[in-house]
Amino acid sequence: MDKFVINGGHKLYGTVNISGAKNAAVAIIPAVVLCDEPCIVENLPKIRDVNIILEILKTMGAKVTRIAGDSARVKIDPRGIKSSRVTCERLVGDMRASYYLLGALLGKFGSAVVPASGGCSFCDRPIDLHIKAFRLLGAKCNLLPDRVELTSENLQGRNIDFDVVSVGATMNAMLAAVRAPGKTVIARAAKEPHIVDLANFLNSMGANVRGAGTDVIKIKGVEKLHGCTYSIIPDQIEAGTYMTAVAAAGGDVKIKGVIPEHLESITTKLRDTGATVEEFDEMVRVIREEPLYGCNVKTSPHPGFPTDMQPQFVALLSAAEGKSKVIEAVWETRFSYVPQLRKMGADIIIENGNTVHVDGTDRLHGAKVRALDLRAGAAMIVAALGAEGTTEISDIRYIERGYEKVIEKLTALGADIRRVTYVESQEDVDL
Ligand code: UD1
Repeated sequence: MDKFVINGGHKLYGTVNISGAKNAAVAIIPAVVLCDEPCIVENLPKIRDVNIILEILKTMGAKVTRIAGDSARVKIDPRGIKSSRVTCERLVGDMRASYYLLGALLGKFGSAVVPASGGCSFCDRPIDLHIKAFRLLGAKCNLLPDRVELTSENLQGRNIDFDVVSVGATMNAMLAAVRAPGKTVIARAAKEPHIVDLANFLNSMGANVRGAGTDVIKIKGVEKLHGCTYSIIPDQIEAGTYMTAVAAAGGDVKIKGVIPEHLESITTKLRDTGATVEEFDEMVRVIREEPLYGCNVKTSPHPGFPTDMQPQFVALLSAAEGKSKVIEAVWETRFSYVPQLRKMGADIIIENGNTVHVDGTDRLHGAKVRALDLRAGAAMIVAALGAEGTTEISDIRYIERGYEKVIEKLTALGADIRRVTYVESQEDVDL
């Protein structure tokens, strides 16, 4: 097994380049299934979740070729996919976003059988809204303990009004609807940057999707989709994590290859803590010289403060002067990482399951902690970079689901971070 060992207290300086967006990539790759020709997807992040979804497509019959000289470019030829039944339970069960195969296969074949998806389980993650959308479009849905089965005579464009704003359900509805005859209107749609990216990708293949990035998405079904070359947007959450890491450790870092508008809610909150954030065309610069102040944060769907930045921000606020209150309004109980931060000296109280009160200490100290899921793991890194002494983070496989070359990127900024192979002891299991 491997862990990260971080000696904290080194300020970060220099430039870091942000990779393609994980949450866009894991929807765009399954979306290629809808097409009848090969597509080239560029700016793919080199992370585990992308490797898994590409592997799943391969087992389904797609031909996946990394383009020489640029491994972030992949040609995906979906023409070998002849069946709407996905059989690789182990791979599908290893990631949440494999549920996008439901919408994509339903949209292409009118049916889908997909094993139960897995991934980060920081909360109960229902799919009732995805199923509601499929049903409204005309599918029969059979939810079994180990798989979801969808069948349809003829899908038809319809009005879909979601009760809760859901990224996954919005994406799946889009995937199922792009080839369904007639007009689909998705109301209370999610507005995240990766929703817009998926719409842009679908339109590059000849789909007719309008309004992505607003509450209402309108889709006119088209008969066929054609191949295209498409470059994925930069990862908002990877960028936000580096911004927060610089604020935690101190220093002056240029975070490059970003879309600053996607980072606005994070920028605003970092400024509230006293960090300086300068915005440029495709770059933000974060400078932190003085101690930080606490602030209040409430997560909400885009353009609000992203839930996927909440753990990293609580880590930051744990070593900021004064008190902070953080309300989690998207994934209500997303605080399983708090006991890990407490081991580093954080003073955090959880109230009603959905709120934390942080009483900032001068400085966290190193400890042995676990990465309980992807963003919880990122929070441990943020905390460790600013802490005094050595932090050992186990279960780093979660971090590697979503952060490309994290050791290389942080080392280049001056962090003291190493990957160490170890044999797990009972003490590690009990952490
Ligand atoms: C996506 C992201 C995840 C992020 C989340 C919210 C991917 C692969 N993952 O997850 O990193 O944390 O958006 O920004 O893109 N809900 C229901 N029923 C459903 C679906 C969702 O009640 O059928 C609720 C959830 O319990 C949650 C809220 O809707 O409270 C938001 O979830 P959703 O936006 O669907 O998250 P994901 O798409 O799973």
